[in-house]
Amino acid sequence: MTKLDLDWPHNFNEIPKEVFVRKDVYDTELQRIFHGEEWHPVCHESEIPERGDFKTFRLAGIPLLIARGDDGVVRAFFNACSHRGNQLETAPMGNKQEFECPYHRWLFSTRGDLVGCPNQREFVPGFNRSDYPLAQPRMESVYGVVFVTMSARTEPLLECLGSIVETLRELVGGDGRLKLLGYQKVRYNTNWKSYTDNDGYHAPLLHQAFNLLNWQGGKGRQFTSTKRGHIGFESELSVARGDTMLEDPSIIEFKGQDPSVGSRIVSLFPTFVATKHLDVINLRFATPIDHERVEVHYAYFAHADDDEEMVRHRLRQSSNLLGPSGLISMEDASIFHRIHIGNHTPGAAIFQKGVRDKEKIEDEFLQNDESGNLPRWEYYREIMGFERRAA
Ligand code: FES
Ligand SMILES: [Fe+2]
Repeated sequence: MTKLDLDWPHNFNEIPKEVFVRKDVYDTELQRIFHGEEWHPVCHESEIPERGDFKTFRLAGIPLLIARGDDGVVRAFFNACSHRGNQLETAPMGNKQEFECPYHRWLFSTRGDLVGCPNQREFVPGFNRSDYPLAQPRMESVYGVVFVTMSARTEPLLECLGSIVETLRELVGGDGRLKLLGYQKVRYNTNWKSYTDNDGYHAPLLHQAFNLLNWQGGKGRQFTSTKRGHIGFESELSVARGDTMLEDPSIIEFKGQDPSVGSRIVSLFPTFVATKHLDVINLRFATPIDHERVEVHYAYFAHADDDEEMVRHRLRQSSNLLGPSGLISMEDASIFHRIHIGNHTPGAAIFQKGVRDKEKIEDEFLQNDESGNLPRWEYYREIMGFERRAA
């Protein structure tokens, strides 16, 4: 693999801004990260609950089709016909009994088998339909979250996740039995790493409305899980009493059982974030479009056992609290854009809060530290093959 010429600073808390804006860096990220030995969440099984339901998603350019077969099994396919490679399905989601490629009308079952193709007698002698199912990437799932990887060498999913799988389980309602409420889909004009570099430090400072939830004052912890760059948060949220900022405070009501962990965040390298703030269950499937754009699908869920009132509450809270127009998070979009503009300047982004020794990576972080992002940066540097400058 080509080695990139890039000067990585000596100090562990400095990230060269070049990595956010260089096209050749992005091309190497495609090889080593997105099409390399990492697992990427692409769907939750509850997004496609019925037989024949499907969803399409592009993982860093690779088109995927995730479908529930007529046997009830969820499978991930490459979204390309096994004949000449035409993109098979164009809808973002839907329900079909078969997938038909319009180019030469090859027909596939919801299990991915080729079940029909016109003019077969004139094909290469010995042609057999069973040799041409839809191709599949490696797939594994946990608590309903479907992951794919493009490499045969990637370690099994649970080994890559480590202990953060417990936080993920709690986040998806304890068992992953969810019900899709809807999506917000947005493209940010920023490098994918700026999108995932959101930190614990900024939350109460950038987001004025986060103060409604007492993020700063609450107890919480931030942790890393395995060496693969995953970050978790488990935090107390408490709705400020007697607050007068909102005319109708029911939007920030917490009906959940345990306010000491009113917020859980699971951020998996490279681009997946899942959050549960109050009663909002949100999985964010994200993919880079190129080196300066990232697309994020915010998917919102209820739990399968919720009564109608709880579903309504979650629906209302989801769209009002989170996402690109959410009360407590809308400022992120502006920062994603502005930091990408700012990254077209020389030098390094310098992390401060929580850094006690810039000659090493810490392994303990407070909820509001930005140093929690540095183990991820170290993992990134290693897999990208960038060498740290000597002292
Ligand atoms: S490319 Fe799909 S049928 Fe020919
Ligand atoms: Fe934020």
